[in-house]
Amino acid sequence: MAADIVQNQLTRKPDSVLGLATGETPVQMYHELVRRHRAKRLDLTRITSFNLDEYAGLPPEHPGSYTYYMRERFFDAIPLPSGRGHMPDGLAADPEAAAREYERRIQTAGGIDLQILGIGTNGHIGFNEPGSTLDSRTRLVELTAETIARNSQLFPEGETAPGQAVTVGIGTILEARQIVLLACGPAKARAIRETVEGPVCATCPGSALQTHANCIVLLDDAAAAELQLPPAQSQSA
Ligand code: PGA
Repeated sequence: MAADIVQNQLTRKPDSVLGLATGETPVQMYHELVRRHRAKRLDLTRITSFNLDEYAGLPPEHPGSYTYYMRERFFDAIPLPSGRGHMPDGLAADPEAAAREYERRIQTAGGIDLQILGIGTNGHIGFNEPGSTLDSRTRLVELTAETIARNSQLFPEGETAPGQAVTVGIGTILEARQIVLLACGPAKARAIRETVEGPVCATCPGSALQTHANCIVLLDDAAAAELQLPPAQSQSA
């Protein structure tokens, strides 16, 4: 379904600006997009993309980095012209200046047309951990112990995920024209309930999406299991 939404967006606007997410959740979406691209059912070569986040201090060739993830799952198959596939710079000597530049590039590209999001078990979107202000912009952040432990599972044996990352802010995410949030599995059920039905507040960054006029939440049954309101009342998120 997520691939269909991307395809519909690209049918309307082939040179769309996509906001892209990493993690385990969107792996199948990338697989399906690449499959459709190879089958010539979809042309992904005209997009511009901006990824949500990257670890601080990890070289792009490190298998735990999100740059590596994106190359493996998407960019190696969809070779975008140079300068059109953007990743936050986790190695910048001046992270604040690099973050400002990232925001500027999003604006110069015309803003994000479609933002793909996953969600953390603690409700984070991008690496905006609980407590991130709802109007935050791209910046260097500290990751919580829960996020570091969970994400270390995706690192080579014996290695731990870094404690800092660069993330696009919640305010930046909310400026996207359309948002699709993906969540699968029982570990996400509480975060999804707080995101969709809880109060809008910084303790659950995902809840900020309730204020967005065009946000679709795609869930499997396990991730939806703790939702309590009838669907008609949940549709604002
Ligand atoms: P996951 O990560 O897709 O690997 O569960 C999502 C996130 O932490 O935002």
